[in-house]
Amino acid sequence: MDNQFLPMIEEQLLSFLPSEDCKEKKLIEAMKYSMEAGGKRVRPQLVLEFNNVCGGNPDAAMPFAAAVEMIHTYSLIHDDLPCMDNDDLRRGKPANHKVFGEDTALLAGDALLTLAFETLTCDRAVIFAGNTACRRAVNRLAKYAGANGMVGGQVIDLMSENTQVPLETIREMDYKKTACLIKAACELGCISASADKAQVLAAGRYGECLGIAFQIQDDILDCTSTDEELGKPVGSDEQNKKSTYVSLLGLEKAREMVTTLTDSAIASLSLFEGDTSALRSFAQSLANRSN
Ligand code: IPE
Ligand code: IPE
Ligand code: MG
Ligand code: MG
Ligand code: MG
Repeated sequence: MDNQFLPMIEEQLLSFLPSEDCKEKKLIEAMKYSMEAGGKRVRPQLVLEFNNVCGGNPDAAMPFAAAVEMIHTYSLIHDDLPCMDNDDLRRGKPANHKVFGEDTALLAGDALLTLAFETLTCDRAVIFAGNTACRRAVNRLAKYAGANGMVGGQVIDLMSENTQVPLETIREMDYKKTACLIKAACELGCISASADKAQVLAAGRYGECLGIAFQIQDDILDCTSTDEELGKPVGSDEQNKKSTYVSLLGLEKAREMVTTLTDSAIASLSLFEGDTSALRSFAQSLANRSN
């Protein structure tokens, strides 16, 4: 699932973090620990790919890509806390709170969240993407990460533990907790290239379907993979009595849904005139991923 932009992302991502040369060194180390821990970088790759399909400059997309990965990384740090999923392993390493303590992990998440918005409006973003794109990016990312987006989805996830919820609730939960940030990545890629509204909408539809498929595949892997392969503890959903498509419908139906949603994501690309082959194969590889 790696694409042409991954080396650039790995090379530049950490440059957006603050220097450790300060009193609050431990906080910056905690932020860096999780940011450099080697995730798949799905969201930044989507930002760069959509920028490319819309004929944009990757220099304009990179701050937006870093911002989305910061929000994602903060969500993972908080997701692993004892008050949430209580998981000790993340990206193949001890979870942030196991290394730095719950207090610093909480604050490292907070600091990554705020740094994301500083990054969206940094000089480099304004110079390469322009003021209007930066404003649109702040608006979209705040909406998709907030109370009716990722954070809202995490609340529905916690409310749905230990209880059977209808399919529509699982759909809404997966849309909000996972697809919203993936959708944001796709839209921000277009916005960084000053794309028009129709392109942003089509990218959003791709991100929405891809994102729900991505969460279902995550739930499938939680019951079928190993800690080593995933880099996080398998069986976490069963242990926490989470409601997922897998717990409600079983593995086979969940796999069918991943396939259908991936096909729908790919169909949304027809609006783009640029070469969408990388985005098509990216969607396929996410559906077939094993970690
Ligand atoms: C994990 O996301 C959390 C979900 C939204 C399912 P990723 O699978 O993208 O995690 P990393 O970034 O590769 O660690
Ligand atoms: C992830 O859901 C959603 C967010 C972190 C926003 P999960 O709880 O299933 O993610 P993993 O499996 O711990 O990565
Ligand atoms: Mg969770
Ligand atoms: Mg979790
Ligand atoms: Mg999971």
